[in-house]
Amino acid sequence: MAIRKIARMGHPVLRRPAAPVSHPRDPEIQRLIDDMIETMIDANGAGLAAPQVYESLRLVIFQAPGERSEAADGEERFDHTAPLTVLINPVIEVLGPERQTGWEGCLSVPGLRGVVTRPNHIRYSGLDRSGKPVSREARGFHARVVQHECDHLDGILYPQRMQDLSLLLFETEIADFMAAQQNPGRE
Ligand code: NI
Repeated sequence: MAIRKIARMGHPVLRRPAAPVSHPRDPEIQRLIDDMIETMIDANGAGLAAPQVYESLRLVIFQAPGERSEAADGEERFDHTAPLTVLINPVIEVLGPERQTGWEGCLSVPGLRGVVTRPNHIRYSGLDRSGKPVSREARGFHARVVQHECDHLDGILYPQRMQDLSLLLFETEIADFMAAQQNPGRE
């Protein structure tokens, strides 16, 4: 296994639609999956899409705990004991009109966080790393992570989903931003 370099916003590989994976069990695909897992954990991400490691293929991985947790310093931590899902050639179906609004970050957009509104209840399906079909319903943070990762396969980064770019911040400023929101007179 190896930690791969992560592509950053602006690189063409993040802007183009990725190609379907024809043979999930090919050794090269299995090696890519192993490398993506190692890269995601090393970078403390909740998910990673193949284009983020310069492979324009429809393959994502994610670890979606029920809730996201925050350390005392405000930095996000992800529970790497949460079940890890490998999803090949994923398809997302929106199951209801309900929307959720929350902060997102991206390993390809380092240092920033932004508020994105997305469908709250989805079904995702695809193949696992052995080529077997997977189909699950997801809500909340789980649904958000899956949609964020699958957007990468269509060349979309989360800032393109934002409705209000005044809510795009450096992550080091979020604590002050939140405090100012709660105490508007004390900025
Ligand atoms: Ni991302």
